[in-house]
Amino acid sequence: MTTATPEAAPLLAVAGLRKTYGLPGGGRLTAAHGITFTVPPGGSLGIVGESGSGKTTVARMLVGLVRPDAGSVSVSGQPRALRTPRGRDARLARAREIQMVFQDPYVSLDPRLTARQCLTTALRLHGREKTVADELLDQVGLGTREAEARPHGLSGGQRQRLAIARALAVDPKVLVLDEAVAALDVSIQAQILQLLSEIRRDTGVALVFVSHDLAVVHHITDEVLVMRRGTVVEQGPTAEVLAGPQDPYTRLLLASVPRAGWNPADAVNARAAMA
Ligand SMILES: Nc1ncnc2c1ncn2[C@@H]1O[C@H](COP(=O)(O)OP(=O)(O)O)[C@@H](O)[C@H]1O
Ligand SMILES: [Mg+2]
Repeated sequence: MTTATPEAAPLLAVAGLRKTYGLPGGGRLTAAHGITFTVPPGGSLGIVGESGSGKTTVARMLVGLVRPDAGSVSVSGQPRALRTPRGRDARLARAREIQMVFQDPYVSLDPRLTARQCLTTALRLHGREKTVADELLDQVGLGTREAEARPHGLSGGQRQRLAIARALAVDPKVLVLDEAVAALDVSIQAQILQLLSEIRRDTGVALVFVSHDLAVVHHITDEVLVMRRGTVVEQGPTAEVLAGPQDPYTRLLLASVPRAGWNPADAVNARAAMA
């Protein structure tokens, strides 16, 4: 990697990702295809679309929870192996490339461990100093009481903060968040979004932010990719796409966001007209 110029080299490069699922009655469903994008170091990309458009499938292919039928994912110019590597060191190195935060933080949290234990366990596994746990707790705004609490003793927002800290304990290059604030109250959502912006600024981690919520994506991403039925219908700088959407589907998504004077019937009718 001696020739790469830092500003030209994407941190995350995704090319031609495709995934089809077998249907129970035979036949196949194409959940995602032709998915291509890059994210620069410290960048933030949003993936938006209605429920069922293929967002989670793409997110899971990035981290390696779903194996793509075709395409590639590279981090810092290194292609990621499609299978989980065998050796412990190789597995840990792979985990340090991309970490994921789920809508339901219980997925990544061990119910038996306190917040601090959760972090020290991850830090030890990755050969990092245990003392970093306090920095992480501080970074995500969890206090001394929360540090000694187990997941069920935390609020939804606090649990999501812990899940973010758990992902950061690995010191990843990319953080993929799949509907990570969708289950939270709007005021807590705002806090977590603010937190993610700060983390991105302070650590340089790149974010891939998956959400059905355009308002949320507007605040946290530089670039956006709009998915419909497994394909990308529009992509570009978030501010441009949201201010002047070119694709009718993007316009429809925007028209469906509740606002002053908004009539849900208009959005429903526009959706029906698209089929
Ligand atoms: N494991 C699976 N097996 C079969 N079909 C799936 C599976 N996961 C997702 N799908 C289907 O793939 C499509 C895309 O799903 P998903 O990626 O979860 O979309 P989104 O996250 O945008 O809601 C949907 O039609 C969904 O039903
Ligand atoms: Mg999803």
